[in-house]
Amino acid sequence: MMIKDKVVVITGASSGIGAASAKALAAKGAQVVLGARRGDRLDQLVTEIKQAGGQAIALPTDVTKREQVQALVDLAVSHFGRLDVLYNNAGVMPISELHLLKVNEWDTMIDVNIKGVLYGIAAALPIMHQQGGGQIITTDSVAGHVVHANTAVYAGTKFAVRTIMEGLRQEESKHNIRAMIVSPGVVETELYSTITDQQTRDSTYHNQRTWGLKANDVANAVVYAIDQPANVNINEILLRPTPQEH
Ligand SMILES: NC(=O)c1ccc[n+]([C@@H]2O[C@H](COP(=O)([O-])OP(=O)(O)OC[C@H]3O[C@@H](n4cnc5c(N)ncnc54)[C@H](OP(=O)(O)O)[C@@H]3O)[C@@H](O)[C@H]2O)c1
Repeated sequence: MMIKDKVVVITGASSGIGAASAKALAAKGAQVVLGARRGDRLDQLVTEIKQAGGQAIALPTDVTKREQVQALVDLAVSHFGRLDVLYNNAGVMPISELHLLKVNEWDTMIDVNIKGVLYGIAAALPIMHQQGGGQIITTDSVAGHVVHANTAVYAGTKFAVRTIMEGLRQEESKHNIRAMIVSPGVVETELYSTITDQQTRDSTYHNQRTWGLKANDVANAVVYAIDQPANVNINEILLRPTPQEH
């Protein structure tokens, strides 16, 4: 089975990369199950996908709550009958230097970017084992490979996710479960809005708008990975906008 008729759960689907992936996958015939906290944005997206002839359903989901992630994954099975792909995409990036002691933001990044991914894996694995296979994709980042001043905690979460996903790949290859991370550089999305340090926020937004990738450029990489035949496990796609040096 390629993309058509696959059931794909996407977290962080209310904007940016998640929303673009939902539209791209639904346009290719996937049945998409959308989670994020902003239910109104999800509802708009479901309407848009259905008007374009696609199939979608949404459930407001906070990935820091394990039971909500479980409910989202369970909805895929109860509504569409199975779970083929879990796309752990939700993430936040309130970057700042450590001495500013934005400890609550460190907690949030760990809860959303790491624990949210783990809760997704916990919800999906039993179903995929029962079904005899599946695919788990997580949005990592160039920040999962490179750290800079002011990205210590964010990069730490993305390094952790890269490690967790590689461990998952090694453990689950024998169960016919494919694991992949997509690691974008700068992408024009709403992610900058999670930055509370005004100067960093402004410069990040400026870079996103002037030379960032579009969310759809990343969605294309996700579509490519899902669209491979079952014997091909794309493990990572790292993509930067051409002008991005680091
Ligand atoms: N933009 C970039 O430059 C870039 C580069 C590399 C990697 N990434 C990664 O790409 C992923 C998607 O981000 P984006 O760039 O598309 O930014 P975005 O437009 O801000 O999207 C982030 C998504 O995560 C959701 N989210 C945040 N906290 C959540 C929570 N507690 N529970 C459920 N959903 C939550 C948001 O929805 P709600 O607010 O509605 O919950 C939103 O749908 C993130 O993992 C990010 O780290 C982005």
